[in-house]
Amino acid sequence: MKMFLLTLLSFMLLACGTTDVDPGARPENGGTTPEETEMVLKDAPFPVGVAVTPHHMKSEPRYNALIKKEMNSITAENHMKMSHLSSARGEYTWDGADYIVSFAKENNMRVHGHALLWHRSIADWVNELPKGDRELWIEVMKEYITDVVTHFKGDVLSWDVVNEAFNDDGSWRSTPWYDNIGEDYMDLAFQFAHEADPDAILFYNDYGMEYSTAKRSKISEEVTAMIERGVPVHGIGLQMHIDIYSTKSNMVASINAAASCGVLVHVSEFDVRTNPDEDKNATFTEEVAQKQRESYQYMFEALMTIPQHQQFGVTMWGLVDNHSWLSDAPDWGLPFNKEYERKPAYYGIIDAITVSEE
Ligand code: XIL
Repeated sequence: MKMFLLTLLSFMLLACGTTDVDPGARPENGGTTPEETEMVLKDAPFPVGVAVTPHHMKSEPRYNALIKKEMNSITAENHMKMSHLSSARGEYTWDGADYIVSFAKENNMRVHGHALLWHRSIADWVNELPKGDRELWIEVMKEYITDVVTHFKGDVLSWDVVNEAFNDDGSWRSTPWYDNIGEDYMDLAFQFAHEADPDAILFYNDYGMEYSTAKRSKISEEVTAMIERGVPVHGIGLQMHIDIYSTKSNMVASINAAASCGVLVHVSEFDVRTNPDEDKNATFTEEVAQKQRESYQYMFEALMTIPQHQQFGVTMWGLVDNHSWLSDAPDWGLPFNKEYERKPAYYGIIDAITVSEE
């Protein structure tokens, strides 16, 4: 009954239009009374998480408090990437990543590891390795994956093993791993991660499955083929850095394509740009806030329509708008504003998960 009333209340507020009710965000020009809900994001039927930085965790008490209140999953935005972890072959700096893991353990949160291999985070010493020596590159890749997965074994539940292996046209992306090892670097990376931690849940992660049908097909085909070859791949991560003009049908199509491979589906880096053209003078208007609210709602609804045992969860790519990787545009892509207040996007999620609980 409570759920029903909350839904009804949200609906009535939406139906009121934009004249007298501010549904939660504090647009740049101020704002009025936020909507109320007793629910939090982690009431969703799957874990809801956030990408974090140790800097904000250590410097802003409000940051940790909000994460504890709303989330039950956590990911390092940067501190588990290769260029952050490894300064020389066999040498690692674990501090930042360990800090995030301890916070998660203290607060009973799941940790999703991001990302073992990513073309944009190659350690300097790897870039200096001799080109074309396939055996050496396999050895180095194995050593790196084994060291990192072993270090976090038992604490990190799941990993993005390979991030962004394909171009938008579905071709293999040229990366140091691909260029020096060949297509089977992907199978090998998953095998090495699995050998290091047989309990870890292993993901292929990428962006653009919502807007590129070529990429969507290629990823589905490749993951299916990997499973047929016996490669331990357990899930597909859809980054979903979308914008307010992205269509609901594309979100649904990408989530369904991933689900049709029979694996877990993680919306792994969700944010919704409000200023994709990067207009320096853009502002966060009420109209934009409402469009963004719909995008958040549609995505959660789409993930909730696939079989429940395949719903791995949603990770938002940051907590509050002003810390987001998009904020310089300027942009306002997240469910919380710079005052750590709930925006309409937040209530879009609540609407989606409320319906599911009735
Ligand atoms: C981004 C971080 O948010 C930035 O802070 C960093 O400077 C670059 O990487 N796809 C990914 C993420 O898989 O790792 C990226 O994160 C965003 C795009």
